[in-house]
Amino acid sequence: MSAARRRVGAVRAELDRRRFLALAGGAGAAAALGGTAGCGSSGAGDEVSGELLRSTARLPEPFQVPLPVPPVAEPVRTRGGAVVHEVEQRAARLEILPGLRTEVWGYDGRFPGPTFVGESGRELRLRVRNTLAVPTSTHLHGGVQKPEFDGHPTDLVLPSGFPDPRKRRGHGKHSEHSMVKPSEWTVSRGHKEYVYPLEQAATTLWYHDHRMDFSAPQVWRGLAGMFLIHDDEESGLPLPEDTRDIPLMICDRAFEEDGSFRYPSLDPSLTGEPGVREKYMEGVTGDVVLVNGAPWPELEVSAERYRFRILNASNARRFRLVLDPGPREGAAFVQVGSDSGLLAAPRSHEALPVSPAERFDVVVDFGAYPVGSTVRLVNTLGSGGTRDVMRFRVARRPKRGGGAPQVPRRLADVRKLRAAQAVAERQFDFRLKQVDGARMWTVNGKPYDPGSPLASPRLDTVERWRFTSDFHHPVHVHLAHFQVLARGGKSPLSTDAGWKDTVDVRPYEVVDVLVRFSGYRGRYMLHCHNLEHEDMAMMADFRVV
Ligand code: C2O
Ligand code: CU
Ligand code: CU
Repeated sequence: MSAARRRVGAVRAELDRRRFLALAGGAGAAAALGGTAGCGSSGAGDEVSGELLRSTARLPEPFQVPLPVPPVAEPVRTRGGAVVHEVEQRAARLEILPGLRTEVWGYDGRFPGPTFVGESGRELRLRVRNTLAVPTSTHLHGGVQKPEFDGHPTDLVLPSGFPDPRKRRGHGKHSEHSMVKPSEWTVSRGHKEYVYPLEQAATTLWYHDHRMDFSAPQVWRGLAGMFLIHDDEESGLPLPEDTRDIPLMICDRAFEEDGSFRYPSLDPSLTGEPGVREKYMEGVTGDVVLVNGAPWPELEVSAERYRFRILNASNARRFRLVLDPGPREGAAFVQVGSDSGLLAAPRSHEALPVSPAERFDVVVDFGAYPVGSTVRLVNTLGSGGTRDVMRFRVARRPKRGGGAPQVPRRLADVRKLRAAQAVAERQFDFRLKQVDGARMWTVNGKPYDPGSPLASPRLDTVERWRFTSDFHHPVHVHLAHFQVLARGGKSPLSTDAGWKDTVDVRPYEVVDVLVRFSGYRGRYMLHCHNLEHEDMAMMADFRVV
């Protein structure tokens, strides 16, 4: 048996085991999926997909380092109405674990990269220079931009001297997953200017690497950052701002003894064979939780409301976040926004399930805690170190007259799509499948084949898309935003509300969404945002016509 088949065979066995467990659980299994914490010594219960990679580095005690907040990028100039930013993808050595150095591949050598802040309707141009040793593709996740600026996996920024993939002969070492026809590649040398029109409402986006076959290890090494858009509707609301509006990029990692990132790549140079060791085909999870790049940090807050833009930037780990202790009164989290903008009205949650790439824009009221108390942000799906995320220390009273008021009952004009608006229905099945003798992560039975779109929706229409799965698959659609219509034929979760670009599809679940295609025609994609699944072919093109 080939190595690839053996690798996938192991995944199959694990999936069969889970299916068996699910069946054995009968009707109760479905409830369990939405319910309590995962179990299992590896941290891989039914709610956590992926295999735990343990650090060999000495790990710090939690809550010893302050929460860093990534700097907001300054534009280099404005050109016409457009704002121009420059950023360089480069290697840098950062102190992530106290006393150790970690080489990161970061935007401007940072991890997370700088936060870009744009204004709705004002074009932002991002010039990305790549001085790493590998190709990159920068994708603005949730952004509405033309296909040539969308950061498609085959649209590469090559470092100087790197061989041009269009000239590669035969299938070479990459043949196992990536059978990209030479004509499918687009290539820039050294740098590329991405044009983001930002013709979209205020929202919390992020940007990250999307290189064909290698997104997972390249994001793991640091190529990700936040991207916020503001508009007038949002600035008219009395939401917490400035130092009370803080992005929380949450992701797990593992570290080698010397402090370097640990990751099970088949070829750690990321220039040869893509993919991870067989054990990690389901996804790679680490034993260290980083928030804004710091392990289990602490944030000092005053006893007032804060707005947090929560992003799960993990490759495979799912979180379910709660506050411990919960507030004396009121909800733990008042959600004001989803992936793609503000909600029509706030929603209260005691727990936030966050799958990879999802965002939750929430307000937390520390006024509900006595000054001097500490509040942990806990991941109820984790065990051991991955149960803790970060801690807040309620250090002082707010300044007199300070503090944002209660979240208003009406936030934004969000029109609810109706099923009757859908002009077409399509199904996308996310499944591990046998393809040409090897099992692969597929969409509708096919491993990714760039240039062969699975759907051709019309611009300015709404379609009903059904996602089905054999496993946890956070399904993400480029360009088009959607609203969740149903889960398993029933109403969606309360945390599914609003415009989204990523939805958590749980094992054997059927999720119906209404997708609105607006913006631009051309080639875009949908894929699983478990980055190991994504690299192992769980992507598909669609073409807006
Ligand atoms: Cu955040 Cu195509 O991805
Ligand atoms: Cu995206
Ligand atoms: Cu997946």
